[in-house]
Amino acid sequence: MATDSPNYDDAVVRKFIIATVVWGAVGMLVGVILALQLAWWPANLGLEYTTFGRLRPLHTNAVIFAFTGNFIFAGVYYSLQRLLKVRMFHDVLSNIHFWGWQLIIVAAAITLPLGLSQGKEYAELIWPIDIAIALVWVAFAVNFFGTIATRKVKHLYVAIWFYMSMVITITVLHVVNSLALPATLTRSYPMFAGMTDALVQWWYGHNAVGFLLTTPILGLMYYFVPKTANRPVYSYRLSIVHFWALVFLYIWAGPHHLLYSALPDWAQTLGMVFSVMLIAPSWGGMLNGLLTLRGAWDKLRTDPLLKFWVVAISFYGMSTFEGPMMSIRSVNALSHYTDWTIGHVHSGALGWVGMSAFACLYWLVPKVWNRRLHSVELATTHFWMATIGIVLYVVAMWVSGITQGLMWRAVDEGGQLAWPNFMDTVTTMIPFYWIRLAGGLLYLSGLLVMAWNLYKTATAPEPKGA
Ligand code: HEM
Ligand code: HEM
Repeated sequence: MATDSPNYDDAVVRKFIIATVVWGAVGMLVGVILALQLAWWPANLGLEYTTFGRLRPLHTNAVIFAFTGNFIFAGVYYSLQRLLKVRMFHDVLSNIHFWGWQLIIVAAAITLPLGLSQGKEYAELIWPIDIAIALVWVAFAVNFFGTIATRKVKHLYVAIWFYMSMVITITVLHVVNSLALPATLTRSYPMFAGMTDALVQWWYGHNAVGFLLTTPILGLMYYFVPKTANRPVYSYRLSIVHFWALVFLYIWAGPHHLLYSALPDWAQTLGMVFSVMLIAPSWGGMLNGLLTLRGAWDKLRTDPLLKFWVVAISFYGMSTFEGPMMSIRSVNALSHYTDWTIGHVHSGALGWVGMSAFACLYWLVPKVWNRRLHSVELATTHFWMATIGIVLYVVAMWVSGITQGLMWRAVDEGGQLAWPNFMDTVTTMIPFYWIRLAGGLLYLSGLLVMAWNLYKTATAPEPKGA
């Protein structure tokens, strides 16, 4: 198939794109089912395989590793080859990476509903799958660094530094947090114990957010936003400062997940202070992304891709303001365990991750299939469905979360709990859960509109410009 250079391996990019859309639909459908279960418990269906406790990790693994993972790989394989003016290092490694990753996802989709789990959030998969992840990731890393080593241009554009931080950090995080002694094929005991285990787990958990849901996508932002807006990046110097400050600060912030726990006070304070400092590089990056659009703001009216980017970057700014606030002990005392956290997660996940993914997919599919986008109107419709969906989801969770936190701590004049019956604090949430379900359904429907639009684009008979 013709591409802008026959030398580049776009077949692997096409495969990662298809996987992104398919797993995105599956992962978000499970999210919608979870949202329904929280609003209406009979949706658990009375089957052990479909209970909330088993489907929740299926959702998180599917949207983080399958949807976001495949999207990042599609964007990295496409942009890396163009930035370095060379084909991927080895086609066999690209294929091991693609097929290995999909097999791991299928293994997750089978084992999690069966209740096979290590019980660590975002690291639930059992040890044989963990080993497979490590091996596939090594194949990716060799392919990635091999491409850099054989590059035709000397300069490494800043996007590649962001990708590199993902490849290196995820290796270390995954290996250290998965260290375990296998007992049977499906059971193992973690190498660390007690508080140390919790600290390692949240060092992993927080940096999985940092180096999978954030830095690689920032790299993609630095590649695709200038391409989409047809403008150079606002400040290259700022992008370098953004990179080093972000990766240095991120790695220390994990303890903000363990505030008020048995973790020593000084470590909690350290996590809190580094989290608050994270505002600076995060907002530097946000401004750099938004200001790249200077002189192109008029295009925003007509170009749905830029609309997606602007909302994505704005949600990045919003969740990286909210996160540092939630890291402050007194704020976390209210937000922890409540739906506020879920609202924060999804403003990052649906707003930043999802909208960036859609912007990249609408850019990539016409390029790698060498077609014109089937319908700009449908892409714009998708944009509005997604944006309204996010707002419904996130606002419902803020209101519900803060209400929940305030009800738990409320006391009457005698110092007694104002809501001694815990169920009262649960039933108060139900209306907000229905609103969240509506938002989630709208977001998922928008994704299906995109899938149709991209399918029509890829299968159109006419080559571009004909
Ligand atoms: C249609 C879209 C989606 C819906 C309806 C949805 C719904 C849900 C629900 C109901 C939960 C459980 C909340 C709870 O336990 O109280 C959840 C958790 C979660 N979702 Fe989603 N989700 C969607 C998309 C996504 C996407 C795209 C991502 C990531 C890229 C994501 C990441 C997560 C994470 C990380 C959690 C766990 C949060 C935590 O433990 O604090 N979700 N989601
Ligand atoms: C400066 C940036 C950020 C900081 C300092 C930050 C801070 C926090 C804090 C304090 C929590 C609550 C911890 C708790 O009470 O248990 C949290 C939860 C979370 N955040 Fe962020 N956040 C940031 C950005 C983001 C972004 C951009 C995303 C998504 C793309 C994200 C995803 C999550 C997830 C998935 C959780 C839930 C973890 C769990 O399962 O408990 N965060 N974050």
